[in-house]
Amino acid sequence: MSNSNRDKDGNPLIQRYTKNERSNHWITAICFILLAVSGLAMFHPATSWMAVFLGGGQWTRILHPFIGLVMFVSFAVLVLRFWHHNHIDAADKQWMQQMDDVLNNREDKLPKIGMYNAGQKILFFVLIACMIGLLLSGIVIWRAYFAFYFPIPVIRAAALLHAFCATVLIMSIIVHIYAALWVKGSIGAMVRGTVTYGWARKHHPRWFEEVIRKSRH
Ligand code: HEM
Repeated sequence: MSNSNRDKDGNPLIQRYTKNERSNHWITAICFILLAVSGLAMFHPATSWMAVFLGGGQWTRILHPFIGLVMFVSFAVLVLRFWHHNHIDAADKQWMQQMDDVLNNREDKLPKIGMYNAGQKILFFVLIACMIGLLLSGIVIWRAYFAFYFPIPVIRAAALLHAFCATVLIMSIIVHIYAALWVKGSIGAMVRGTVTYGWARKHHPRWFEEVIRKSRH
């Protein structure tokens, strides 16, 4: 296979992500962690100690919005890269109706999954909604440059929306990380870019068949 290499035992591997896709994902993920800790530091006294991660309260307040812009741009590029893999089709609707089989790892009973399953696709769109909400509300509450253009009730509503979107985003990413750990071999896909034939055949059989078909041409 042209785009495969081998693991330490000599088993063939399939390329799932390129270097650029992985760097793009990890820049987004690192920004997310910095934003989550700095955001929580500003949100509540119980988590204010988290300001230490960005060098104290002043730096937290200065840096948080700029890191937010970097995450938004990085995430937007990720969305453009993966958009075509996330169209919801009939097989996805069927997958959602068989949640019992999904949760009990009876993957043989599920419709054949392509690059992503319905859960990953829904998460993708939830993340997009959160990012748009965070960007728009974040601009309104950015005291140093924009907040003075808006009346106080708008700033208060934006602060609420910002906290709501951040809560949904943090909970979604916890689910995302849990799923990445639960489906053994997924972290390797995002770290090294490759997966085993077994992983691909078991979790994403339609994608696996496409890769094999393309490699034969
Ligand atoms: C912080 C720790 C994170 C870990 C450990 C992690 C792990 C992973 C893994 C293993 C995959 C590959 C799944 C597969 O190929 O089936 C993936 C995909 C992806 N991740 Fe993350 N991720 C993290 C954070 C984030 C963040 C913060 C975002 C965006 C806000 C994000 C957005 C995505 C997207 C969009 C995909 C592609 C899935 C799709 O398009 O439906 N990830 N992640």
